[in-house]
Amino acid sequence: MKNRMKISTLAATALLATTTSVSAGEVEVLHWWTSGGEAASVNYLKDKLSDAGVSWTDFAVAGGGGENAMTVLKSRAISGNPPTAAQIKGPSIQEWGDLGFLADIDGVAQANDWDNLLPSVVSDVMKHNGKYVAAPVNVHRVNWMWSNPEVFRYAGATIPTTWDDFMVQAKKLQSAGFIALAHGGQAWQDATLFEAVVLGVGGADYYNSAFVNPVDLDVLNSDTTVEVFETFGKLRQFVDANSPGRDWNVATSMVIEGKAGMQIMGDWAKGEFKVAGKNVGTDFICTAAPGTSGAHTFNIDSFAFFKQSDAASSEAQNIMAAEILGTDFQTVFNLNKGSIPARLGVSRAEFDSCAHDSMDAFVAASASGSLVPSFAHGMAVSSAVSGAIYDSVTNFFNSDQSAQEGADQLVASVSSAL
Ligand code: BGC
Repeated sequence: MKNRMKISTLAATALLATTTSVSAGEVEVLHWWTSGGEAASVNYLKDKLSDAGVSWTDFAVAGGGGENAMTVLKSRAISGNPPTAAQIKGPSIQEWGDLGFLADIDGVAQANDWDNLLPSVVSDVMKHNGKYVAAPVNVHRVNWMWSNPEVFRYAGATIPTTWDDFMVQAKKLQSAGFIALAHGGQAWQDATLFEAVVLGVGGADYYNSAFVNPVDLDVLNSDTTVEVFETFGKLRQFVDANSPGRDWNVATSMVIEGKAGMQIMGDWAKGEFKVAGKNVGTDFICTAAPGTSGAHTFNIDSFAFFKQSDAASSEAQNIMAAEILGTDFQTVFNLNKGSIPARLGVSRAEFDSCAHDSMDAFVAASASGSLVPSFAHGMAVSSAVSGAIYDSVTNFFNSDQSAQEGADQLVASVSSAL
């Protein structure tokens, strides 16, 4: 009965077919949410859909940052067998739309007034040729630093707010026997760390000109980029020898367990602290990555919908899209995921102080021009340009290249990808 009522409410508000059946189709959903916090989040979506009569076939492809998932998605789509929905974000949504793969969910979006529920910085990305083809689940802030306060106390160190001070405090942590910076040597994690340095050293105007479409090569090819690489290169010494290949959530657990002092990572890391039963303030501290307080590097997760040949699957897509924008879903999912709701009008009461900081920074940064899209997480440039950035950044971080060499290589590889 509960299911039937939910279905008919949805049908009234979301232009769904008038069905009272308990089975409203099924969805196969591609995502890369496999860590503890991520799994709790995706399970909630699964449950919500099940309540609405939609069954879920999980298509999880492990690998933080989603590179593996995107490779698998391409081969499925090319062979004519795409999933019902896939975790695709930013400019990639346009790339998939241009190739003609995406289904239009504009009926649900219009019936539920998405244009007024979503900030335009979010809704613009969800549309292809003016029609909604994707539904946003959250807004992650990427420029965060996660610290273990006990480690800092033990080492007599203070949490740094500038990159200069970072070097000083990180040395204190090291001298006291801790790993200063928990890091996983994977290209997307190197790019996430680099992105924080770009924003902290160069500022939002430089970031927007050099790392956001359309990339200004003159700004990229400047002394500021060399300075960025100088700071980034100094971080090599604070990462332990076992970092190559380490998953991001394993790095987070090093901070949780007090083996390492800090991790620079988006707020999906908070989901790991939560799953481990840790509390903000006492067990872990969230602060903006050095030099970036007040700025907000955003990363919006969304599900894009693939064209279907049967009506039942399209209806299941509509139900999924409508559920995703519900206040219930946006609250619980984001409490688990560490992010903040993508839609407006969700109460902030249940969220913690890190989420409140992210919400406040999102609004303030948007007014001051320091709300920037994450290039490390597919929000700012085409997949070709982001691939070029990943390659040169990871190559630099894992070699002894000088700052000038790193900057030159980055400029060369980005210009050849434009
Ligand atoms: C995604 C997050 C995910 C993280 C780690 C990011 O690109 O936006 O949702 O938790 O990668 O896999």
